[in-house]
Amino acid sequence: MASKTVNLQLACLSAISGVIDKALDLEQSLQDILRILAEKLSMKRATITLVDRSTGKLVISVSQGLSAEEKSRGVYGLDEGVTGLIFQTAQPYVVPDIRKEPLFLDKTQSRKIERDRISFVGVPILLHGQAIGVLNVDRLFGDEVDYEEDVAFLTVVATLIAQFMSLNQKFEAKVENLRRENVSLKYKLSQETQGLYIVGKSLAMAEVQRQIEKVAPTRATVLLLGESGTGKTLIGRIIHDLSERKDFPFIKVNCASIPENLLESELFGYEKGAFTGADQTKPGRFEEANKGTLFLDEIGELPLGLQAKLLRVLQDKEFERLGSNKTRQADVRIIAATNKDLATLAEEGAFRPDLYYRLNVFPLNAPPLRERKEDIPSLIIHFLNKVSKEYARKLTFSTEALAVLKEYDWPGNVREMENLVERLVILAENERIDADLIRPYLTIPSREDALSGEGGEGEGAPSLKSLEKSVIMDALRRSGGIQHRAAKELGITPRQMGYRVKKFNLESLVAVQRVKNR
Ligand SMILES: Nc1ncnc2c1ncn2[C@@H]1O[C@H](COP(=O)(O)OP(=O)(O)OP(=O)(O)O)[C@@H](O)[C@H]1O
Ligand SMILES: [Mg+2]
Repeated sequence: MASKTVNLQLACLSAISGVIDKALDLEQSLQDILRILAEKLSMKRATITLVDRSTGKLVISVSQGLSAEEKSRGVYGLDEGVTGLIFQTAQPYVVPDIRKEPLFLDKTQSRKIERDRISFVGVPILLHGQAIGVLNVDRLFGDEVDYEEDVAFLTVVATLIAQFMSLNQKFEAKVENLRRENVSLKYKLSQETQGLYIVGKSLAMAEVQRQIEKVAPTRATVLLLGESGTGKTLIGRIIHDLSERKDFPFIKVNCASIPENLLESELFGYEKGAFTGADQTKPGRFEEANKGTLFLDEIGELPLGLQAKLLRVLQDKEFERLGSNKTRQADVRIIAATNKDLATLAEEGAFRPDLYYRLNVFPLNAPPLRERKEDIPSLIIHFLNKVSKEYARKLTFSTEALAVLKEYDWPGNVREMENLVERLVILAENERIDADLIRPYLTIPSREDALSGEGGEGEGAPSLKSLEKSVIMDALRRSGGIQHRAAKELGITPRQMGYRVKKFNLESLVAVQRVKNR
């Protein structure tokens, strides 16, 4: 008799050892263990109850011989019933006849209809001496069962289960590490290949970087805050590139630049005939961004009516095209940006508070350049290298020029700097850019200049010629290098424009702008 039991137990352990290669699928391997117990040892029902980390309750994780409904009823407080007792005391517990045990809750109600005597054996699952769960089995036998032997054997099985779990925890921790490493490697790669990276090692930017890496892999809505030109669009793009959505579209919509009556159809699309002029069906930006990211720039300018519709997409992931009552699903991650104070707008009634809270899940602040002046030199070098390449020129800044740039407050932030560097590279007649060339283009005199009384009418004032040149350059940039458009904007004839492009040597600027805007 005893040797028969031992043989069965050995057969059982041998079968369980066959599951080890599946150990990384924890649920499946635990399920297999219970099935083996049931088959080899004719245990009627078996459950593995583990602590659910989110609720702190003991929950039946896997079971054999229980319906899904029975299983879902098996939720115990840590000190409830026999299972709770086993967990609390970290000791085995045997109920020879569950009909006579008041502590026995039969929460799953799976034993109701049975008339036979059922015995219950439970052992704690211990890891490093601490209970992490409970293994319970029901047997249908009568007096011939040797409970001590059962307990001893199940304790061995519980030890194996604990090892499976420990292996999984270690594995998960490794995976999590690798995942984090992967994010930062991808980040470096996108840095190098696409020039999409954040220059600047100040504490403030290191914090921004850290937050980007944290939020990117999630699907959380991100709200980018900060003055104009601080890098919000760049950050939005980097978050997309670091997410699992990177192979799907990144779609930008500027809520301020599209007239209110067009913005709704732009975002949500329209059906043919939805309004006069809608002569064909057009999907909106939400549909275009499916599985990807929708970047909503200047979200503070979103009209109130559309705010309600955006809120619905954020909450229910649903929307309709204009002129259609078919509800569509949106699998889109939203990144919104603004240089407005949304909280104040919400107080003033210009922005829905509920939308504000929805967007504000993960606010990320892009600090203005004047608050991280230590980033100025590396940014200057970065843009100088970039622009020098575009114009095939090799230029450097004089020490004094760098000092002036570092002192300056940069009201237009990084964008202002990028534009200024491009302008200087075009204007510079020598290989070395001097402070004198720079000063005229700084919108507000730096504090030092203001205090020393320089930079007013004297040598710092821009000449009429350089002012004209910069006006022409700005117009060409805005028109994407299309000269007749730039001419129209300035109210001069295309011929006059052509003459000035030649006079100021702006052919390369025109060419670069046209390439950029192709
Ligand atoms: N830290 C940075 N490193 C490198 N380039 C940057 C950095 N910050 C901004 N830039 C560049 O400066 C320019 C302006 O940045 P961006 O358009 O992202 O600013 P923004 O905050 O979105 O401005 P706006 O509010 O006007 O839309 C872009 O060309 C961007 O690539
Ligand atoms: Mg932007």
